[in-house]
Amino acid sequence: MLKKSLLLFLAGVLALSFAGCAKKTETDKLVVGTSADYPPYEWHIMQDGEDKIVGFDIEIAKEIAKDMGKELEIKDMNFSSLLGALEAGKIDLVLAGMTPDEEKKKNADFTEIYYKAEQGVVIRLEDKDKYKTVDDFDGVKVSVQQGTSQEKIAAEQLKGAQVKTLTKVGDLILDLKAKKCDAVIVELPVAKAYVEENPDLIISDVYVTDEVGGAAAAVKKGNTELLEQVNKTLKRLMDEGKIDEFVADAIKLSSETAE
Ligand code: ARG
Repeated sequence: MLKKSLLLFLAGVLALSFAGCAKKTETDKLVVGTSADYPPYEWHIMQDGEDKIVGFDIEIAKEIAKDMGKELEIKDMNFSSLLGALEAGKIDLVLAGMTPDEEKKKNADFTEIYYKAEQGVVIRLEDKDKYKTVDDFDGVKVSVQQGTSQEKIAAEQLKGAQVKTLTKVGDLILDLKAKKCDAVIVELPVAKAYVEENPDLIISDVYVTDEVGGAAAAVKKGNTELLEQVNKTLKRLMDEGKIDEFVADAIKLSSETAE
């Protein structure tokens, strides 16, 4: 009898200490998911022989972790996997230049918009005179990143375009250079970064837009505590003019590291 209760007691102690461990890692780290193919928001660079993820979203993530007293862990994944990973609890927060459009709001809760941007339609330099307005895309192949608001923009605004989706933005650019498609839509600062790196590409005069026009951070639906915490840091950063600073630094870094 005594033995049994002692065993139960020990089992209880063990269970509690395991719970303690799980809780500890959970509270010490802030795991942020991103898709590091989007300069100046987030992208990879080689620094001192090491692969690093940099960008203004990453600087913002550092500030959020700092305000929470947590260690930051960045998880790079496909853009289209981010909201699923959030839902599954694999990441705590998404910072990926993500547009809080109606579709995405069904699957996550979003902070205030921390950065506004327009869209850019990237084409080959040699096609400069071919694509001037949204009406020049009838039957034309346009590539966009899977799961992004650009899917809808391409389908609805470039009339008659054949929209194709790929998981990585780098592959969209390769697709365009290899003439497997004739245009790519990404946010304007991203278009600028890729065009700077690829002299055979330009940003066309074609104007497309989305209804939201900016990026916000996403948390799991119902996680109001984290949402408020992140909104607080974002507000502080905006008040201090830090976001503009992070954006300017990231643009500078991306043009320095462009080959
Ligand atoms: N703003 C667009 C969206 O949310 C595209 C963002 C793509 N971001 C990235 N890191 N690749 O749908």
